[in-house]
Order: sequence, then C-alpha cells, then structure tokens
Amino acid sequence: MEASMLFFIAYATIEGHTRKIAQAVADTIEKAGHRVRLMNVGELIEYTLEPADGVILCAPIHGGHYPQPFLDFVERESVWLSGLPSAFVSVSLSITSDNADERTEVRNIAEALADATGWAPQAVHHAAGALRYTEYDFFKRWMARRLAGSRGAPVDTGRNFELTDWPALAAFAETFVASARPDR
Ligand SMILES: Cc1cc2nc3c(=O)[nH]c(=O)nc-3n(C[C@H](O)[C@H](O)[C@H](O)COP(=O)(O)O)c2cc1C
Repeated sequence: MEASMLFFIAYATIEGHTRKIAQAVADTIEKAGHRVRLMNVGELIEYTLEPADGVILCAPIHGGHYPQPFLDFVERESVWLSGLPSAFVSVSLSITSDNADERTEVRNIAEALADATGWAPQAVHHAAGALRYTEYDFFKRWMARRLAGSRGAPVDTGRNFELTDWPALAAFAETFVASARPDR
C-alpha cells in the first residue's frame, strides 16, 4: 500500500461556501487514504504549521478581492508555503460568466496573489461559488443580485444557488495529491 501523506488545507470564507469547498477537498484527500489538517485562517490566533506533504489554500473573491485575513496569512507564511507542493482554489461568481473578460478578470486576481504575497501556487483551480440570497441582509442581497444579473447567474432572490462543479473540484484535488507524492 502507498504511504499516507499529510495535507494542510487553509481557507477563508465570508458567507460559508468556501468552507464547504475546503471540506469537500479534505474529504476527497481523506478518501484517497491521506491525512488532512483543515484551518480557517480567519479564526487563527495561535497555530503551528507542521511539516506537510502539500498544502491547498481556498479563498473567495468578494468585491474584486480575497479577504484581507487570507492575504495576511499567505504573506506571513509565504516562505513556508513556497517550500511545499501547493495549490490554490479561487472561488468566485465571475468564473461562470458568459463574458470572457469577466472570467479573465478573476483569473488575473488569482495571478496577482503571487506579487501581493510572494506565494505562487503550482496549480490553480477556479471554482464557481454560491448565491445564498436568503442568508444575505438587504444590501448584500441587492449587491449579489446585481452581480449575478451582469454575469448571467441566477437572480431569484427567494432561493439559494450552488454553482460549484463538485466533480471538477474533486478531480483537481486528486490530480494535485498524485503530483505531490515525494517519490514521484
Ligand atoms: C457581497 C458579495 C460580493 C461579491 N463580489 C464578487 C466579485 O467581486 N467577483 C466575483 O466573481 N464574485 C463575487 N461574489 C461571489 C462570491 O465569490 C461567491 O458568492 C462565493 O461563493 C462566496 O464565498 P464565501 O461563501 O466563502 O464567502 C460576491 C458575493 C457577494 C455576496
């Protein structure tokens, strides 16, 4: 049997969907027989980064940016992150847009992470996020509906929508894990 590896998964979330994405990545990796440490970077007070065989970070785009606690974490730990096989899952609505410029815009936001923080992941996956209209306050619902309308995403604010392609996310995690094997 192949040796079990340890993967570190850190995520940021504002509305909770990226937590679900990070958990799905963790489940995929565990199903492949490996171990996982899952952390929310927004809740870290004191922590230790153990030696790991690979790391996957997950963060959503809100208002054209990743959450500041996520950027702070990546910048603070960029040396540690850069010493490991690493992958990034960027969560957004625009990646589902019919408009190529909007898809390019979120790809550029992910690429700019390396300049902003000093960490360049070896693999990047763009996952479509969720619209949790019923959980937003009035202002956020208005903002999200406007954004969705301009991206061809659902605008029925009486319901919630998950736009994530779960099998594509699992395939990305499996490919990354296979590439992280030290004896490859
Ligand atoms: C107030 C608000 C602003 C958003 N801004 C953007 C944006 O600028 N670009 C984008 O592609 N998606 C945007 N989204 C979509 C989010 O990336 C998507 O809802 C994601 O699932 C949020 O992840 P979270 O639940 O982990 O916070 C926005 C969503 C909300 C509610």
